[in-house]
Amino acid sequence: MFENIQSRGVDQILAMMQTFKADARETKVDLIVGVYKDAKGDVPVMRAVKEAERRLIEAEDTKTYVGISGDPVFRGQVPALLLGAGSPVIAQERVASLQTVGGSGALRVGCDLLNAVMPAQKIWVSTPTWANHVPIATDAGLTVDTYPYFRPSDRGLDFEAMMAHLEAHSKAGEILLLHACCHNPTGVDMSLEQWQIVTDFVVERGLIPYVDCAYQGLGNGMEEDAAGLRIMAEKVPEMVLASSFSKNFGIYRERTGALSVIAKTPEDLTKTLKAAETLIRSNYSMPPSHGARIVATVFDDADLTADWRSELDEMRVRIAEVRQELRAKLEARQVTQDLAFLTDQNGMFSYTGFNPEQVTKLREDHGIYTAGDGRINVAGLTPENLDAVADGFAAVLR
Ligand code: LMR
Repeated sequence: MFENIQSRGVDQILAMMQTFKADARETKVDLIVGVYKDAKGDVPVMRAVKEAERRLIEAEDTKTYVGISGDPVFRGQVPALLLGAGSPVIAQERVASLQTVGGSGALRVGCDLLNAVMPAQKIWVSTPTWANHVPIATDAGLTVDTYPYFRPSDRGLDFEAMMAHLEAHSKAGEILLLHACCHNPTGVDMSLEQWQIVTDFVVERGLIPYVDCAYQGLGNGMEEDAAGLRIMAEKVPEMVLASSFSKNFGIYRERTGALSVIAKTPEDLTKTLKAAETLIRSNYSMPPSHGARIVATVFDDADLTADWRSELDEMRVRIAEVRQELRAKLEARQVTQDLAFLTDQNGMFSYTGFNPEQVTKLREDHGIYTAGDGRINVAGLTPENLDAVADGFAAVLR
């Protein structure tokens, strides 16, 4: 039987990570996967996370199951984090969150849920989008279609093309997948005015917005990064949100995420959560405990929360500074093309526009690894590798 098995292969992010691992050069530079690295090139455990873990180890007195929907304290904290504590949607009891196995697990449970209500329904994703969005939606049974988003000429957002396409082709009941902030892979986000326009369109057309919020706090700040989705959440009758704590808590391997649902009424919400629980039960049964307990412990303690926020701010500021530095270094190397995109784009990723030849040349001649589509993890740049990376980029850009 297995002799006939077919694999679609791993996506271009994971494939490049495997190639990187096999490269023996000591000077190789990893700008591939989206993990925050500090100026030493380490992926640190945040101070508040360490302290929360210390407390958890001391206090933990059982390893019994956490239940299908996860840690109740954690679940209670997520809506305010996403929607703001004063959100009318929270006051109306129209939102609730389930703990999931990372942001990817949230996306999958959300797609399973949508497919259960509307089998094989169309889900609109941006061009380009995160490499795992299409496989997740497809494997859940949804039908994927794309809308224009990134404009290569200025490495910015082609909002007119996006709206014209959705206006012409989307139909009531279809799902619109949006990135809350720090769009992956492009780093190109909608302005608040554009969120407003999309919100009006979603309401008028009767689309179901599905917002992926994986990088809150790493673009412009925790509140700022959620401002767009908050505009939408207050206006639409129904919405699905997948969020992750991998990046803003740096707890990638703990697989900590949440699926949040906004329903028309509290009664609809209760029914929807019940349905989602049955989907989780037949998938992985129950989520793990540790990551959600870390998050819950930090948010339950004002000092830990303040410390986490200040370290997250340091991370965000470092990313923004590195963007400036890379731009300055390239300009100093007489790269004549407009490099404003490096500082205009948000969050961990920059979409360089490198073509496959340039990606290969960077890898083979300079030991610089970008994702297969030319996306770079800006946080992978350090004082130690910045000049070498600028030399390599300048060589392929000139
Ligand atoms: C990325 O895009 O690099 C991250 O979201 C990690 C992943 O799983 O792809």
